[in-house]
Amino acid sequence: MKAILIGFMGSGKTTIGKLLAEKLNLPHVDLDDQITAAAGIAITDIFSQHGENYFRQLEHEVLLNAISQEGILSTGGGTPTQSENLTALKKAEIPVILLEAAADTILERVSGDIERPLVNSLDRDGLTSLKEKRQPKYQACADLTIKTDGSSPEKIVTQILNYLN
Ligand code: S3P
Repeated sequence: MKAILIGFMGSGKTTIGKLLAEKLNLPHVDLDDQITAAAGIAITDIFSQHGENYFRQLEHEVLLNAISQEGILSTGGGTPTQSENLTALKKAEIPVILLEAAADTILERVSGDIERPLVNSLDRDGLTSLKEKRQPKYQACADLTIKTDGSSPEKIVTQILNYLN
């Protein structure tokens, strides 16, 4: 991987990852898509049929495989929160970009999203406290942090490209 994007749900990892990959003429790899492909069922169904622990196990295996592929990787919001993933991300020595957005922006982007099981199981306060709890883990592996509120995908991608060059 040339760069790995991390951040909470709704922080823009997939949108920015796709655009960045396009600019660099590289494949875009979405970890959630790879997990879905590996399981043969949707993320929400993995959570409801097998539970979060099973999802995290699968996520770890898929991450290890994805790291060695070519391209730009967009992770899931919980990926860096698992210590074995944090270790793998640091060990890979690939630039890790943290996308940040205010809790209100995130809530606006993800509320009602049935494809995100954690959104359905948490209320506003729950989501805000999960975000705060995860923040130190995100920061522990980020080489560059970008605040996305009020910015555009083009501007964010330009910031990342400047950092990578
Ligand atoms: C999760 C985020 C999701 C997905 C799964 C769990 C999380 O990815 O991996 O629903 O724990 O925050 P996105 O960040 O792409 O929504």
